[in-house]
Amino acid sequence: TERKTADRKDSGKEEQKMELNLGDKVVYQIYPKSFRDSDGDGIGDLNGIRKKIPYLAKLGVDVLWLNPIYASPQVDNGYDISNYREIEPTFGTMEDFGNLLAEAHEAGLKIILDLVVNHTSDQHPWFQESRKSKDNPYSDYYIWKDEVINNWGSSFGGSAWEYAEERAQYYLHCFAKEQPDLNWENPKVRQEVYDILRFWLDKGIDGFRMDVISLLSKDQSFPDGPVIQNKAYGSYYAGCANGPRVHEFLQEMNREVLSKYDIMTVGETPHTNADEAALYTDESRKELNMVFHFDHMHLDYDENGKYATNRVPLVALKKVMTQWQDKMHECNGWNSLYWCNHDQARAVTRFGNDSEEYREISAKMLGTCLHMMQGTPYIYEGEELGMTNADFTKIEEYKDVEALDIFKDFTERKGFSKEDTLHLLHLKSRDNARTPMQWDASENAGFSEAQPWIRVNANYKRINTENALADSDSVFYYYQKLIALRHELPIITDGVYELLDAENEKIYAYLRKGEKESLIVLCNFTDETVEYEVDESVKAERSKLVISNYKDAPEKFASKITMKPYGAYVYYTK
Ligand code: NOJ
Repeated sequence: TERKTADRKDSGKEEQKMELNLGDKVVYQIYPKSFRDSDGDGIGDLNGIRKKIPYLAKLGVDVLWLNPIYASPQVDNGYDISNYREIEPTFGTMEDFGNLLAEAHEAGLKIILDLVVNHTSDQHPWFQESRKSKDNPYSDYYIWKDEVINNWGSSFGGSAWEYAEERAQYYLHCFAKEQPDLNWENPKVRQEVYDILRFWLDKGIDGFRMDVISLLSKDQSFPDGPVIQNKAYGSYYAGCANGPRVHEFLQEMNREVLSKYDIMTVGETPHTNADEAALYTDESRKELNMVFHFDHMHLDYDENGKYATNRVPLVALKKVMTQWQDKMHECNGWNSLYWCNHDQARAVTRFGNDSEEYREISAKMLGTCLHMMQGTPYIYEGEELGMTNADFTKIEEYKDVEALDIFKDFTERKGFSKEDTLHLLHLKSRDNARTPMQWDASENAGFSEAQPWIRVNANYKRINTENALADSDSVFYYYQKLIALRHELPIITDGVYELLDAENEKIYAYLRKGEKESLIVLCNFTDETVEYEVDESVKAERSKLVISNYKDAPEKFASKITMKPYGAYVYYTK
């Protein structure tokens, strides 16, 4: 597509947001640190990604989302940025980035970057200045108070307020203390951010994933938050999530920057329900194209929050997914579809079954269930292989600040045993998604010649891209087919979603309805064979199977169907 430039807006042409037609696009998420190391330091890098462009093109995805690649002390793996206009040296140089972008574009792949502007690193020059005094040009770039004014706790443990000796005040950090929150009330801060956006957009990138964008606007009364999930502190969401000016800020950002480029945007919006999401994504409001919600990620929480042994109940999952399908359709918004990312457990372990017997079949079922929905599917690196949770046995193997904090908090304050806490980390830690991508059966899974920064999963000899590419029945080729189907069948983009059999605890059945055609999607979420009778309202005289994870799936739709363990069956009818 032809890139719009700033001056085209002056020609009086109405701005258009996102000219990439999102409808049939599929995004692949790359965690650069763990994708492929090209220079032998045990850390993935940009040139490593470049080498794998043919692999990504073969899978058939349209857009690559890279987690933060900017200069960073890496306290939170790049979500603590010290220079927004430089590449993190362990990842490469600006020249490497230019080459990656050019080669990706040549291969028909778009690239979106992670925009982290709720907070910076405490090493960012703005903060270094800001902390010095109350009356320098950067004093108001962050949120400073004379006292700890409320009960908020940081996401990674401890109070959300940290004392800075030099300035004799406290600053707010919703995340680690090395991640001070920016003060979006200050118009200078906003202009600085817009300049950063322009800097990257003018290089020709294709959009942004926007980190915790729902937290930008703080309620200036800074109200106490409820103490939930047996935490030591109150929740900052009370005064940060979907705050009073967040839509005003995003509309300003859209008006001043986003609307002038042909790009896509996806906001990460913790603590945002479908009604609130409509405000971010309704096209006519000119904010973002879509958001990542967390409603389906919260279904296996217990009284201690995320670190729980619960499985996601299917009826609740269907309810949440259906709410979002319906709401985004109705409000002229758009869904982001994901099972996992760099902050979540591996999809097959969490929602499927990672035993030897069912790993591949259940990974394919999950892919089917998600990819036939309306919205933009996001594939997290390794999901297309059915990669599983990490197999760490000691706390020393975990690297994530969240995991280390949880270990401390659960064992020291909550009184959990080390063993039980390690089990919870095995189920839910963010590091489950961050172990190196498994390329082949050679040492370090072909990820690096050096010892990787985080240990490779021991199952890499079995689960790797080399094996997957050599096996026509692999999860990889199944995902390739799911992606191709989205490109081929407009009904996957446009069809109206309709849930069937809401209360069924084993089967996820839904339709996508068009004017003359429809899809019938049937997924068995259990390891049992289920004799299933599809709702009698569903009639399909002429039908054909478009995809199934079982070779002997019936070619024609019949309302009585034997659904094998983790079976997925999609029928097209006209
Ligand atoms: C959400 C990101 O996905 C996560 O990895 C990070 O720790 C927090 N935001 C803070 O930036």
